[in-house]
Amino acid sequence: MLISGGGSNLRALLDRTRDSDFPVRVVAVGADRDAPGLDHAREAGIPTFVVDYGAFASRAEWGEALAERLREHAADAIVLSGLMRLLPDAVVAEFAPRIINTHPAHLPEFPGAHAVRDALAAGVSETGASVIVVDDGVDSGPILARERVPIEPGDTEDTLHDRIKLVERRLLERVLLDLVEGHVEIQENR
Ligand code: GRF
Repeated sequence: MLISGGGSNLRALLDRTRDSDFPVRVVAVGADRDAPGLDHAREAGIPTFVVDYGAFASRAEWGEALAERLREHAADAIVLSGLMRLLPDAVVAEFAPRIINTHPAHLPEFPGAHAVRDALAAGVSETGASVIVVDDGVDSGPILARERVPIEPGDTEDTLHDRIKLVERRLLERVLLDLVEGHVEIQENR
């Protein structure tokens, strides 16, 4: 799993993987900075790694270092949840279609890094949560799961995002189960 922030979705997944009936295990957690969420993995005794974006001269070089760490851990799937970096095309090409991303909007609505803020600003009555396969676009890959989330009067970015994350976590668990049980087939980017 790759994060950049507080990792509340990571924490929720770690909690779920403690259930013996859930056939998914987190093998490592990586970040592009010393993300606070890495503590959830450390507390669970799960290997962590930081590939500090600022330590590299380019996104491509950062990507090469990240790919090396991903190869080491050889996960069946790479879950982005709160990674606030676009993966270089070479990284996507190497690991696709085994990279999935959670996004706090009903894609293709509100792609990009400010989905929650953008939905609030748009004045719509509902937004959503999505889980997609990462391709070399921005939040443009095949949609594996998505669900509408209402926007309530008085919502702030935080109250809305918290409501969305609850749905994201449920969708991510569903998608991971579907992947493990072989219910997902990706062909020609569909
Ligand atoms: C999630 O909404 C995820 O979809 C988005 O960033 C948020 C990460 O939240 N890309 P957290 O760090 O797991 O709390």
